[in-house]
Amino acid sequence: MNQFGGNWTHQKIKIIEEYAKAYLQIMKSYPYYKLMYFDGFAGSGGIEIGGKMEENSIDGAAKVIVSIKDPKPFDTYYFVELEKKKAEALKISLNQIQTSGIFVVSEDCNKKLVDMSNYLRGYKGRNYKVLAFIDPCGMNVNWASIECLKGLGVDMWILVPTGLGANRLLMKDGNKIPDSWWKKLVDFFGIKKEQILESTYTEVTQQDLFGNVTKELRKNDKGIREIQRIYSERLRTVFKFVSQPYVMRNDHNSTMFHLFLASNNQVAVNIANDIVKKYNQM
Ligand SMILES: C[S@@+](CC[C@H](N)C(=O)[O-])C[C@H]1O[C@@H](n2cnc3c(N)ncnc32)[C@H](O)[C@@H]1O
Repeated sequence: MNQFGGNWTHQKIKIIEEYAKAYLQIMKSYPYYKLMYFDGFAGSGGIEIGGKMEENSIDGAAKVIVSIKDPKPFDTYYFVELEKKKAEALKISLNQIQTSGIFVVSEDCNKKLVDMSNYLRGYKGRNYKVLAFIDPCGMNVNWASIECLKGLGVDMWILVPTGLGANRLLMKDGNKIPDSWWKKLVDFFGIKKEQILESTYTEVTQQDLFGNVTKELRKNDKGIREIQRIYSERLRTVFKFVSQPYVMRNDHNSTMFHLFLASNNQVAVNIANDIVKKYNQM
């Protein structure tokens, strides 16, 4: 069982469920498309909640989505979970709901996103429309894997670790960030170090009593908001439309993640915006 905290985990799954139902309702009018649900960080099927919720265990997104029968089910479900034991547990619990059309693989989501994009561009995949859910715990998604989806019929919900990931690596003094962290940040945003610095830091020159000059790269206020803006702009280079984010905060009101829908369809993003607005106000 996966362990996460808080009401926001529950709300995140409700958002995906609500959107999936609206998506399936619309796609009911396009029976010539095959519908695939792709979950890149699928978990084990259940989630143990460490926060304040009354229930201490809930169904993960995978079980919730496979249980949708009305307005219609997806034709294919593709679940990716890196940890073998979790993938096995997931397969067993999903097969209790349904046995056909379900694929569970124990691999890296980055690889399977590339494999999926190749499949969708090929002869067998051209009739597919995909709803993808990318739900990492940290900065596990490389930008290059997202970029592969350009021009495809994919609606993608992605959880972006703005506060818990990128903001922590972008230290107060930009000069102190180690090279290994810069590599992670560059892989994550898919832009150069200089571009990240330009949007998130200001160079401050200081002179001490004896005239010694030091230059500090000082992180701008509202760093997380900048990270959110950069990631949203990056998504817009791959998808035509990007929703407003659902903001996930911890008990101390610190932002941990932003959840976006990216799509080539304006209607899809309008629906996502309505759902996100409702949950952001709760
Ligand atoms: C936040 S949890 C997912 C929760 C799940 N969406 C749910 O609703 O139950 C992230 C999961 O991704 C798995 N994981 C971590 N890195 C991964 C990777 N590179 N590729 C695929 N799965 C990965 C972890 O083992 C963990 O189970």
